[in-house]
Amino acid sequence: MFATHLESSEEVDLHLPIDQLATTCPSSGRPLLVRYDLEAAGKALSREEYASRPRKLWSLAELLPLADPAHAVDLGEGGTPLLSLPRLGASLGVDSLWVKDESQNPGGSFKARGMAVAVSMARALGARALAVPSAGNAGGALAAYGARAGLPVQLAMPRDVPTANLLEARIHGAQVELVDGTIADCGRWIAERASTEGWFDLSTLKEPYRVEGKKTLGYELALDMGWTLPDVILYPTGGGTGLIGMWKAFEEMRELGWIAADERLPRMVAVQASGCAPIVQAFEAGAEEAEPPTEPATVASGLRVPTPLGDRWMLRILRESGGTAVAVSDCELLEGTRRAAALEGLFFAPEAGALVAALTVLRERGELAQGERTVLFNTGTGLKYSECFHS
Ligand SMILES: Cc1ncc(COP(=O)(O)O)c(C=O)c1O
Repeated sequence: MFATHLESSEEVDLHLPIDQLATTCPSSGRPLLVRYDLEAAGKALSREEYASRPRKLWSLAELLPLADPAHAVDLGEGGTPLLSLPRLGASLGVDSLWVKDESQNPGGSFKARGMAVAVSMARALGARALAVPSAGNAGGALAAYGARAGLPVQLAMPRDVPTANLLEARIHGAQVELVDGTIADCGRWIAERASTEGWFDLSTLKEPYRVEGKKTLGYELALDMGWTLPDVILYPTGGGTGLIGMWKAFEEMRELGWIAADERLPRMVAVQASGCAPIVQAFEAGAEEAEPPTEPATVASGLRVPTPLGDRWMLRILRESGGTAVAVSDCELLEGTRRAAALEGLFFAPEAGALVAALTVLRERGELAQGERTVLFNTGTGLKYSECFHS
């Protein structure tokens, strides 16, 4: 095992042991991240060896924190295709457009990656029961991985969560509390009960393992693109674990020598719904922290995250990468989903439909050149959002 310790994501000088179940930084309350002996890991796993393994998340085991890969809770996650989008790209004036199609994960969303690693770690480090507040897909994924791991799962979901997510959670045996309000209210409901009930809380960035699972998005992208990276990445941003995880992957790969030291890292673009866009607002205001919107609302349920714990971290990444942040309306994001479905045969989740709409905004603003290699992340299947597409 090459994971050595945990560090604070903020400027706090702190080393925590990797072999104890961790939550957030005890000093700042901010997220923790896993650090590795990358020199030793790079000797144990070359990029050629990684490329020769089956396309799946656990093929990156040397760069994940689970001590014994035989204890992985595995549903076959990861290894999703990077597909070119020639017809959609042509319609938007983007010549080199791809999508990493995360809807092909177990349960139909990228949440599988984070939960595979987090549930494996939680079980290996002694958790007896798991809980998470969820806008939809994360709860469904935790329910599935909890069932696979043989651990009970408690979820708190907004009362207006998509029906498919609720059904998925219940069929896997999770207990579901429906809460009036947003994921922030659900988070409070879990936090108030977790210690008395003995639940390990897997809320976004309140533990350091989900990010490690999401990090595999960045490694796979480099592998798919022949160890180069795109010019621009658009990511539908709620809590932001994918954005943060990918950036961590890029930094690790540079240190490992898997990508060239002078490889320009992609400009990261956070896309949100205008009804709940705390990161876009903070980015535009030049702020270091996000403020919650007063009445967060959007049909893209995964983007209804008013108080992301990783706000400072995400804003640093957007700025460091030379990227930006874009908000689009619900009408635009649903139209984006319809356009991708009609032109490419891919039914994106509305969260990813927002990326299609954001491409138009970036082209109009002159922030995306026609020839730039651009990657979207279809974070989930649109089939779970039938309520949004009835008309
Ligand atoms: C389909 C989909 N896309 C995007 C997101 C936002 O992901 P993150 O919280 O990692 O920013 C979610 C979160 O629920 C989601 O379900």
